[in-house]
This record gives sequence, structure tokens and C-alpha cells, in this order.
Amino acid sequence: MSQPANDAGGRGAAGPAGPYDLVVVGSVNVDLVVRVDRRPAPGETVLGSDLSTYPGGKGANQAVAAARLGARVSLLGRIGMDAHGRLLRESLERDKVDLGHLRESAAPSGVALISVGPRGDNSIIVSPGANARLSEQDVAEAAELLRSAPVVSLQLETPLPTVLAAARAARRVVFNLSPPAPVPDELLALCDPLVVNEHEAAMVLGVPAPPARQAKALLELGPRSVVVTAGAEGAVVADRSGVTSIPSPRVEVMDTTGAGDAFTGALAWRLAMGDDLATAAGFAVRVGAATVRRAGAQSSYPTLAEVEGP
Ligand code: RIB
Repeated sequence: MSQPANDAGGRGAAGPAGPYDLVVVGSVNVDLVVRVDRRPAPGETVLGSDLSTYPGGKGANQAVAAARLGARVSLLGRIGMDAHGRLLRESLERDKVDLGHLRESAAPSGVALISVGPRGDNSIIVSPGANARLSEQDVAEAAELLRSAPVVSLQLETPLPTVLAAARAARRVVFNLSPPAPVPDELLALCDPLVVNEHEAAMVLGVPAPPARQAKALLELGPRSVVVTAGAEGAVVADRSGVTSIPSPRVEVMDTTGAGDAFTGALAWRLAMGDDLATAAGFAVRVGAATVRRAGAQSSYPTLAEVEGP
């Protein structure tokens, strides 16, 4: 008999073992990146660096981060039948992400226009393209895959009804509420954990606050557990048993693009392998710190050996 959706007894490594540790449902983009000294004001033009083109998208980033660490990952998403789509498929194949549920769409592949500032900070405009065509029907057709995995990891660059359908079908949901937008209580209640950075938390809560206060306040909104990431300060995890701060190693920051996706992919994988939330977040913080030292999103993601060090 299949595991009931979101039954607490089906958490983590418990339940029948499927072919994948982790299923990611989400976006696949080509990232077009230019480094700038400062961003243009409306009506202004500034000159930037040479253009870099990377595979990205919050969903694909989570999948690649986990796969590169050793996870068995399947990705449910949509790409266009264009040159970007071919680039994205090839790079996911190189990282050994299962693409049995990567669909094609007549719309162009998703594109992210990214500027990276001198301190490694980024600003992103996403044209969702094919990602906006990922449908509830696509989720229904992948129902068996979703139920077979201990953890399903989600973000919000695909339509909300699709994300909600995937959450309903999952045994355990890791949800990165990024980019931030209003979501129904039902989705929040399925999160274990809800993952946000401190800026996203402030947008959801309507007021800025220290990460520990944010984590407690977000828990009141209904998720089973919460993780607030805080860049160089690490992360805070919260569930009914309390709040725990997780410090980050100090590193030199070159580019923060995709660090939150790497964190979430690593976290989701470790939860699938049976780690408790604080232990999984401790590992994910080290993965996130490793990514900001290199340029790009997936291009910066470490192997397990790089995270564990000599
Ligand atoms: O979180 C970083 C990602 O956001 C980029 O890879 C870009 O594609 C956007 O989706």
C-alpha cells in the first residue's frame, strides 16, 4: 500500500525505498549574468562585464546541488524546444539528475537576467517561459514518482497550483518560498520545513526581525518546521521542540547567486537520508558557504568531498 500523503510516519528515510532520495519539482532557467559596479537607475545605462551563460533555475539548482553531493535525484520541470533547452538538458544529464519527467513546451525556456554587484550580491529578473506551463496534470502524471520519494523539494518559480498539487502528493515537503508570494495556509501546513532567507521572511511577515524571532513567527503560520537562512550568520531552525541557531563557516564571498538553492537541495537530501533538522541544516550551511566562493549558481556547487574537506 502506498504511504499516505504527508503522514508523519512516512518522514525521512522511513517508508519503502524508491529509486530516488529526492524529487525536485521546479524551474529550469538559463542564467545570463553580467557583473556590474553598480546597477542602473531607471532610464540609465551602465557598462558591465562580459556576459556569462550558466544553467540555473531554482528547481534545477536544488536538484544539481543534491546530485553533486551524491543524492539520487529526479526533476519534474519544463524546458523549451530551443537552444537553451538543449543546454539545460545536457547539463542536468552531466550531473546525473533523472530527467524522466522533464517535459518540453512550445514556450521558450526560462531565462534569468542576473546582475552581480561588487560584493557578490545579485538582482534577478526571471522570464518563466516553459516553467509557467508546468501544470497540475504534469504533477498527476508523476504521482507515483512523488509518492516514492522520502522528500519532495519545491520552490515558487512554477505556478502555485502546480506547487500545491506536488505538495499534496508528497510524503514530506521541503518548500523554499522563493520568490516570495502569498501562499495558502494548506501549503504552509504541509511544509516540513518551510525554508526562507531573512529578506523573504520579512516579506512574508511584513516586518523585519532577527532570524530567530522570524523563525518563531513563521512557525505560528502553520508549517511543521521552519528554516531561516541568514547568509554569513548561518541559519536558524525551529519546530515545536524549540529554536536552534546554526553558525556558518566564514568565507570570502564572490557571488551569492543560487546559494539558497544549494542550501535547500542539500537540506532536503540530508532530511531524506534521516538526519534531524538541525543536523541537516548544519550540513546545508556548509554547502551554502562553499557555493558563494565561486561564480554562478550550479557552476559553484561543491562535491561531498569539497564540503567535508581534507
Ligand atoms: O536562486 C538563483 C536562481 O534564481 C538563478 O539560477 C535563476 O535562474 C533564478 O531562478
